[in-house]
Amino acid sequence: MTAQSLLTTLLPLVADLSRELPEGERYRRLLQAMRALLPCDAAALLRLDGDWLVPLAVDGLSADTLGRRFKVSEHPRFAVLLSSPGPTRFDSDSELPDPYDGLVDGLHGHLEVHDCMGCPLFVDDRPWGLLTLDALDTERFERVELDALQAFASLAAATVNVAERIERLTLRAEIYREASGQQHKEMIGQSKPHKRLVEEIKLVGGSDLTVLITGETGVGKELVAQAIHATSTRADKPLISLNCAALPETLVESELFGHVRGAFTGALNERRGKFELANGGTLFLDEVGELSLTVQAKLLRVLQSGQLQRLGSDKEHQVDVRLIAATNRDLADEVRNGRYRADFYHRLSVYPLQVPALRDRGRDVLLLAGFFLEQNRSRMGLGSLRLSSDAQAALLAYNWPGNVRELEHLIGRSALKALGNCRERPKILSLNAQELDLPDVSTPLIEAPADTALVVTGDLRQATEHYQRQVISACLERHQHNWASAARELGLDRANLGRMAKRLGMK
Ligand SMILES: Nc1ncnc2c1ncn2[C@@H]1O[C@H](COP(=O)(O)OP(=O)(O)OP(=O)(O)O)[C@@H](O)[C@H]1O
Ligand SMILES: [Mg+2]
Repeated sequence: MTAQSLLTTLLPLVADLSRELPEGERYRRLLQAMRALLPCDAAALLRLDGDWLVPLAVDGLSADTLGRRFKVSEHPRFAVLLSSPGPTRFDSDSELPDPYDGLVDGLHGHLEVHDCMGCPLFVDDRPWGLLTLDALDTERFERVELDALQAFASLAAATVNVAERIERLTLRAEIYREASGQQHKEMIGQSKPHKRLVEEIKLVGGSDLTVLITGETGVGKELVAQAIHATSTRADKPLISLNCAALPETLVESELFGHVRGAFTGALNERRGKFELANGGTLFLDEVGELSLTVQAKLLRVLQSGQLQRLGSDKEHQVDVRLIAATNRDLADEVRNGRYRADFYHRLSVYPLQVPALRDRGRDVLLLAGFFLEQNRSRMGLGSLRLSSDAQAALLAYNWPGNVRELEHLIGRSALKALGNCRERPKILSLNAQELDLPDVSTPLIEAPADTALVVTGDLRQATEHYQRQVISACLERHQHNWASAARELGLDRANLGRMAKRLGMK
């Protein structure tokens, strides 16, 4: 590389440092410049977040890579790269598994990375992350001077430093961990609807407003509730959850408000309710649409006064609780139909937050697939777990009635089945479209007679419920009345299907 071409590659990057660029774009340009300088098949920039490496930008790697979260202790190459102060090049016959095996957008069937090098980045003398370069053929990097990578890494460090400073000015809600530590509770996604959701979480998280989270089954409502709590000023106080659907009415009350000894048969001891446990923190009422009118009235009183009484006691307790609620029902509709109290509904929906369906999040489905693939790879002790390109296309084409949860289960199930079909443990396990175990979308759930329009007379609600009954019973028929597998096909949680069937008078 001549000094002239080196300058033409690097100068724009130096200029970028002082420019206002959208998040991601800065990093993408950085990787492009690196690939121009040091030819390779794939490059990545990863940020170190505790024990995890989070890809911020990738070039030449499959789309799902951006959603993967790499635990450093499970990827020895990353560990080696992070532990040396300068660039490292791995011998092409190195025995260490490569985290990108199967992920480089290479020629068909050419999946294993053969030449690999990388360099840690330091910001304020602290390890910030990694730059990595990979090639599918051997000895590609032989001629490349490690000095060039080292020089580039300094420029990269300056770039991330600038980006971090800009980012630090805005609150960051994307990444947080459960108080217990290990589990990575992150909301994966880069689509516009996802980003809008994250912005809203930041916005409302900073307030003390009551939030009503709505959205289809499996979209991530619970995760959103946790994120709101984590970004709020109450983050270091408890987040207490109650699933309102899981308990019969009498127990819901004692769960919420607590009881004194002898308040009802079986109340052997005095017990504090979720409200008191959440004092100072947040109470998350999941499936809030399932509360009976009576309990709604009692909750309303507590919300209005901030005072509650344990069951069987007339003593008042003062509580300071922020409320978050979630439902996949249309509560406004429930109000119109007299099944929900209007005043309670208005108390809940001070800030309504709609979580978008997975089918509306574009390529996020691939990122999420990558996130779950890496989890399963780790759990199953595999070297690499990847999607073939027809599998990626199938995921993008499917309409995900059960949203993220359906995707999570699908990946886990498919990986297990694919492994079961292997005679010996593969180095790289690829899932193709057939192995994905997607419901056959080409056959409609109900065969409608051709050319006959569906004639609906009377009340729309009754017609809809009638249709739902038909779909559910046909599906149960197909699954020999196995509720769990029928729920899977319908993209519903098993408990939700049970409740729905009950509401439709089928149980
Ligand atoms: N953006 C995301 N990134 C990573 N994981 C996600 C994301 N959204 C959802 N999940 C995961 O998908 C699963 C379903 O999410 P969650 O339980 O929050 O959905 P839900 O909307 O509450 O579903 P339901 O309506 O059935 O109660 C969980 O395992 C959750 O961790
Ligand atoms: Mg939920």
